[in-house]
Amino acid sequence: MTTPTATPVATTARLARLVEEVRAVVDRGLPPDLTAYLVGERLAPHLGASDLLTPEQCAGDPERYRQHVLHAERDGGFSIVALVWLPGQRTSIHDHVAWCVTGVHQGEEHERRYRLVSDGLAARLVATQDVVNRQGEVCGFAPPGDIHRVWNGGDGTAISLHIYGADISRLGSSVRRVYEQPTDEQ
Ligand SMILES: [Fe+2]
Repeated sequence: MTTPTATPVATTARLARLVEEVRAVVDRGLPPDLTAYLVGERLAPHLGASDLLTPEQCAGDPERYRQHVLHAERDGGFSIVALVWLPGQRTSIHDHVAWCVTGVHQGEEHERRYRLVSDGLAARLVATQDVVNRQGEVCGFAPPGDIHRVWNGGDGTAISLHIYGADISRLGSSVRRVYEQPTDEQ
């Protein structure tokens, strides 16, 4: 099925190719985890290419990490954003509304993953894994079990591409829920 598209900003020919490749995967209607895996395979070869993003799409914000919406399918099937992180900028602890694939285009991203542990009546967050995602690396995941925080732990600007199984241009963000920081973390 060919899906009409809405492209919010001027993009590059390489990004247009990536959109076509992602659409071919998403239109197969496979389960979310398999879709995320296959989308990650399509994304990886484009990471680091100098003609993937425009200079405007690489611009950061001194106040907080910045999201540039690169593409949103008109039927809401998927969307692609670039996140630009200046050193030290980070997200809240959060999970997601849909499957997600991330790939590091420039620099590196640090990530801490969590799971919710129930102890009696209450549930608390426990950190399960610290990961450094380097330039060219992709990872994909699908809810549930997708709670994490991401930050730029490097000295330079980091840029990552995120592909979501939802229309981020309409929702504003991929975040389903924000979690309070565990008391034993700074
Ligand atoms: Fe996330």
